Amino acid sequence: MTTATEMRLDNLDLFEAGPPWAAFDELREHDPVHWDREDAPNHGFWSITRYHDIVNVLRDATTFSSEVGAANLEELDSEQLDVRKSMLETDGERHRALRKMMQGEFTPKAVAGYETFLRGLTASTLDAALPQGEFDFVKEVSADFPIRVLARMLGVPDQDTGQLIEWGNRMVGNTDPEHADVLLGSEESEEYRLLPFRSPAALEVFEYGRNLRDQRLGKDGVDLVSKLVNAVPIDGRALDDRDFRNYFLLLVVAGNETTRHAISHTMNALIDHPETIALLQERPDLIPWAVEEFLRWGSPVYHFRRTATKDVQMHGKEIKAGDKVVVWFASGNRDSAVFNDPYTFDVQRTPNEHMTFGRGGPHLCLGNALARLEIQIMFETLLPRISRVERVGEVERLRSNFVNGIKRFPVRVTPA
Ligand code: HEM
Repeated sequence: MTTATEMRLDNLDLFEAGPPWAAFDELREHDPVHWDREDAPNHGFWSITRYHDIVNVLRDATTFSSEVGAANLEELDSEQLDVRKSMLETDGERHRALRKMMQGEFTPKAVAGYETFLRGLTASTLDAALPQGEFDFVKEVSADFPIRVLARMLGVPDQDTGQLIEWGNRMVGNTDPEHADVLLGSEESEEYRLLPFRSPAALEVFEYGRNLRDQRLGKDGVDLVSKLVNAVPIDGRALDDRDFRNYFLLLVVAGNETTRHAISHTMNALIDHPETIALLQERPDLIPWAVEEFLRWGSPVYHFRRTATKDVQMHGKEIKAGDKVVVWFASGNRDSAVFNDPYTFDVQRTPNEHMTFGRGGPHLCLGNALARLEIQIMFETLLPRISRVERVGEVERLRSNFVNGIKRFPVRVTPA
């Protein structure tokens, strides 16, 4: 077994069979601020794996900036940073102003306004999937549902959802040979260095967004795109072309893959815990709270990155200004200093202050209330309809250390 100090979390093989829980345990215990040396031309990064250390990094956005480097491991020069920058790679006032533009659309109250729509959508997704008996849970249930919600919020036609899913797969799957047009880090990807995820799919998303913008500019639509193109952020600086396209792309990507994987991971966990299915069937009132454990358990986003703006010490290690500092949410979600028996799937766990959406920092997931409601409604609708569910093949994972994703997941369902 590799010792903690030799651990390489940039090694995607480690993530192939699912989250590298043993590696995270080892790091939390023996090397909580761990230097991962990476291969050239990258310069290495610090891995922060303990819950409370992660919270401290997220909260201190002055020392650990989102703006002076990328949000992921990729090392960007100033030109790349400038053209690829979205709210996620912005600090301070401007970040607050950009976030505020959309915040009202994603509050629990605003999101509750979608409940009837979500219940109808979930029911029709399941009406189509369940009678098939045996099917790929990702394709038939979890992939379609979050993007349809987003399509509705963006005000784009239902028939475009397949295209939106495909773009998301190609961008977020930029380290997976099955999904990527060009693999991140490959020589070919140099040509796309100015695009988010270094993915040519981003060009198609930009083009799609531009068309929507042209249709809605100066009109009084209430969809998210209309708000983006017609509202002026509170700092008075209207969105320029770059701001708009990167914001649009962020909305398309952020809420799509993540929620899909959260739903798939939950189904997978429930298959392993039939007693929990029985409990939630008998006590559906527990489901809204159970969602917190679903999220902790699934941890669909492995990490995000910050960049140190000054020299700082943590657990005796010297982090230097300019160093990449990577917070591993998935590891924090298994930290026994915070969660009793972290490897027990306990839908009645209280408290359950997981960090699946980040925790405490300015970039806390904007869509968290929406994701929570989607997952809740999915399982409130699904569980009463089934008497038995089993895996009938391999759960195929995305090759990535960024998104903890499931590509295919064959199930057999016996209706109630
Ligand atoms: C289970 C599903 C989801 C997970 C696990 C997830 C996870 C995350 C995480 C970890 C962050 C960064 C937190 C930080 O750095 O402090 C984030 C940010 C963000 N998420 Fe989500 N997310 C999910 C669903 C959504 C949805 C449905 C949307 C809506 C479109 C969304 C929109 C965003 C946006 C816009 C940001 C950037 C916020 C900012 O920079 O201020 N996410 N998400």
